[in-house]
Amino acid sequence: MIRKLNQETINLISAGEVIEAPCDILKELLENAIDANATEINIKIKASGTELLEIKDNGTGISKADLATCIERHTTSKLEKIDDLYSLNTFGFRGEALASINAISKMEIKTSTTEDGKGFLLKENLVSSIVCQKGTTISVNDIFYNVPVRKKFLKSKSQEFSKLYNTFLEFVIQYPKIRFQFISEKKNETFSNTTQENRYLQVFGSEVISKTKLFNIKSDFFNISGIITKPESYFFYPNNYIYINKRPVYSAQITKAISKCYKDYLMIQQRPFFVLFIELNSKTIDINIHPKKRQIKIQNEILFINQFKQAIEGNLFPKSNKETQSIKSIYESIGADFKNNLDLKEPKPVMDYSEPKEKDAPVKIVPAIKQPPKIYLDRFEIREIIGQLFDTFIICKTPDGLLLIDQHAAEERINLEKNRRLYENDFKIQNLVIPKRLDFISFSQKEFILKNKKLLENLGFKIKHLEDALFLETIPEFLEHYFDHTFFLDVLEDLEDGADFNLNRIKDKILKLKSCKESIKANDVLTISQIYSLIQNLNKCVDKTICAHGRPTYILLNKKELEKMFKRII
Ligand SMILES: Nc1ncnc2c1ncn2[C@@H]1O[C@H](COP(=O)(O)OP(=O)(O)OP(=O)(O)O)[C@@H](O)[C@H]1O
Ligand SMILES: [Mg+2]
Repeated sequence: MIRKLNQETINLISAGEVIEAPCDILKELLENAIDANATEINIKIKASGTELLEIKDNGTGISKADLATCIERHTTSKLEKIDDLYSLNTFGFRGEALASINAISKMEIKTSTTEDGKGFLLKENLVSSIVCQKGTTISVNDIFYNVPVRKKFLKSKSQEFSKLYNTFLEFVIQYPKIRFQFISEKKNETFSNTTQENRYLQVFGSEVISKTKLFNIKSDFFNISGIITKPESYFFYPNNYIYINKRPVYSAQITKAISKCYKDYLMIQQRPFFVLFIELNSKTIDINIHPKKRQIKIQNEILFINQFKQAIEGNLFPKSNKETQSIKSIYESIGADFKNNLDLKEPKPVMDYSEPKEKDAPVKIVPAIKQPPKIYLDRFEIREIIGQLFDTFIICKTPDGLLLIDQHAAEERINLEKNRRLYENDFKIQNLVIPKRLDFISFSQKEFILKNKKLLENLGFKIKHLEDALFLETIPEFLEHYFDHTFFLDVLEDLEDGADFNLNRIKDKILKLKSCKESIKANDVLTISQIYSLIQNLNKCVDKTICAHGRPTYILLNKKELEKMFKRII
């Protein structure tokens, strides 16, 4: 029998789309305070927001008449007709947030629109008069007291806290002119009102800022500003921040496009850090596609991403000449370091098998080693292993010129060919003892997974859909020691990219990821015997010239190229 749901149930169901965790409440209340032109916002948190979440602002306040209606669904002061969506300069437009929060918690609002101390309190759906400063204070108690299932799906207190704090930072980064205070059992912080540049410093600290580049790009189609990792200074930072027309959003496409700009500089699993403010013509985006307003639809997205990528590349590498860049930059760094660090006057004629000692000199010299047996890489005979450069490249002397080997790329190739031999025809599946909740995926990734459950299962990733969460129950057996959530995201990304879902191709991609993870990295110090066997093993590979991801494993600078660089010949 079909029944009409009562209003309370309807409200609870709608609230489920907007509010999944305390961080969602914080986001909605911060948006409202900013929409009300607040210049000071104070936040109080207890038990990661599950017991109390209170936000006090000095904004416009809510009138007595509006106070009673603001907690009804679809009541907003910000939108009249659908066309207004395209010229909106407020975060809010649906009139859903307060109704949703009120449906799943015990909420109180104290507010005043005037400076005379006259204010109002909304409690248990009743309005009364109180003394109150201009502005609004919203206290949210006992979240999910009436939806215990949802409470069960909350993560640990510390995980909920970090989500909450990161949501707070999203706003702090974006609004330097607002003074923010955050008080909780774990953190007690104030961000005074300042400039955008100083706000970056307040939030990320000088260490991170010294490794990032401030940028501002204007084009006919968009303006982009923010900060981004300097190509030469990788560091790990857990979060990135993207704002499109002032809304914090998640965008796998934009993140991927930026990572691609760094592909020659960072290793496969390294990601640059960035804060990105993108301004687009508001007519070309749709903000109304995600219940938490976390995603935005961009018209002609492929075109936008291409232009965006070019703009970022142009800013990061302003004078780079694509054809000559890689070889030149390698050469230039060697040239400089040869002059400064490489003392070839006093070669030690013995082979040194001891562990390298100092870690800071960019070139580790294992000077003038005569190899007892002849070794080869491809057709090049290696006469001397000169040493490691930046603990990343191996430098060798050959009769044909200087041979540079990328130690990570080389080992990745060796591991890939080994893994293909071992696992190509032996694809076993392993159950996870505790199924892994996929709480790191975006809304669209979730949809994608649900659509492609069978395909993922064939790849060894069995997914269970429980309530509205997804759990990973199995993984390919050979990933046992290497599996983590970035791995799964990489696989997803590849599937989303792939025009054809060829199972063997995707399995091979997973083998490539595994090979990458197992390999030595840039900045790993190697002994001469490790270098020696690396070269020999690479030489045994069928395809020794490229790594699993298509980058070169070695480069030869021959005599002619050197002479050209020194302008001895033209
Ligand atoms: N801190 C505040 N200061 C002043 N007015 C507020 C504040 N919070 C809410 N309001 C008023 O209450 C109304 C309802 O808020 P609510 O967040 O539910 O909806 P919204 O912001 O209009 O839309 P959305 O659901 O997209 O956030 C707002 O339109 C606004 O008029
Ligand atoms: Mg709102």
